[in-house]
Amino acid sequence: MKLQLYVPDGRYAPWIDGFAEVLPEAQCVTWEDSQGQSVDYAVVWRPPVEMLRGRTDLKAIFNLGAGVDGILKLNAQHPDALPAGVPIIRLDDAGMAAQMAEYVTAAVLRYFRRLDVYDAQERAGTWKFQKPHRRADFTIGVMGVGTLGAHIARTLAGFGFPVRGWSRSPKTVDGVQSFHGEDGQAAFLDGLRVLVNVLPLTPETQDIIDTGLLHRLAHGAYLINVARGQHLVEEDLLAAVREGQIAGATLDVFRTEPLPADHPYWQEPRITITPHISALTLREDSIAQIAGKIRLLESGKPIAGVVDLQRGY
Ligand code: NAP
Ligand code: GLV
Repeated sequence: MKLQLYVPDGRYAPWIDGFAEVLPEAQCVTWEDSQGQSVDYAVVWRPPVEMLRGRTDLKAIFNLGAGVDGILKLNAQHPDALPAGVPIIRLDDAGMAAQMAEYVTAAVLRYFRRLDVYDAQERAGTWKFQKPHRRADFTIGVMGVGTLGAHIARTLAGFGFPVRGWSRSPKTVDGVQSFHGEDGQAAFLDGLRVLVNVLPLTPETQDIIDTGLLHRLAHGAYLINVARGQHLVEEDLLAAVREGQIAGATLDVFRTEPLPADHPYWQEPRITITPHISALTLREDSIAQIAGKIRLLESGKPIAGVVDLQRGY
């Protein structure tokens, strides 16, 4: 069995060694070294458009991330970039849900305990009491209640916050009020104190966070975006922050990454920026998950995480 690997930073050795350890029956080779050869599986993150074109010999393509917008975008750039009929399989948690829950909880608690304001006061040398937020008034909405969103919502509910979730289909998550579909969106958003976005990027969800949506939230609400930059209309967020509708935003993802040095977000103290680190692809966990799925596929068994190309996630 042969695996073909592409990682944009070119640091192949730890991946090759990792697969050799957990899947010794397979030979793992870099894309560059395997061109023109027949391979069984491709394991990729943001591959070049030439890599997968016409590769209908592949049994499956494993995406080294939860989001598949990057790989699906290839087909928009070149109509035959992805081989028809070859399943694309995304990472399904693989250690990301815990990281996301930590990141989002840290951001929520920072706002809830007013540490954002105390940080600014410290920089100004100000000793001043801030009225605490009331937990009961601090309703948090999680957009996207899938592998990552469900874990985030459950974790926040564990802190005693009122938590709502919004997804395409109804969900049952302990301590979380479920809303679904376009019809359920307004009731989900109405009066939220914190909005967390963990939706996949699809044609339906692109630009979903705009002026109209931000103004459905409570006045002085907080936004946490850990999904994709393209979900958020940047100038609408800046306007909402400047007029006080949004009291603070924590953004991990951006339309252009790295965020350009002259981007106005850098100058806005109420916007907190991190460089796409809320949930990293963990190499060992990812290799273990992919190896497990390859074994299931080889024995004709079903696997989780197969991307529905119609839905786009
Ligand atoms: P997932 O398991 O596929 O969950 C997606 C959720 O979004 C599902 O609950 C789905 O509803 C819902 N959804 C999709 N389209 C919708 C729509 N039009 N309206 C309402 N709900 C919709 O995905 P995941 O593993 O949780 O990952 C989510 C995203 O996180 C990824 O796509 C990626 O962009 C992002 N991410 C970011 C980082 C980072 O470091 N910043 C790391 C990993 C992932 P149904 O369940 O009803 O289908
Ligand atoms: C990272 O952004 C991912 O989608 O896994």
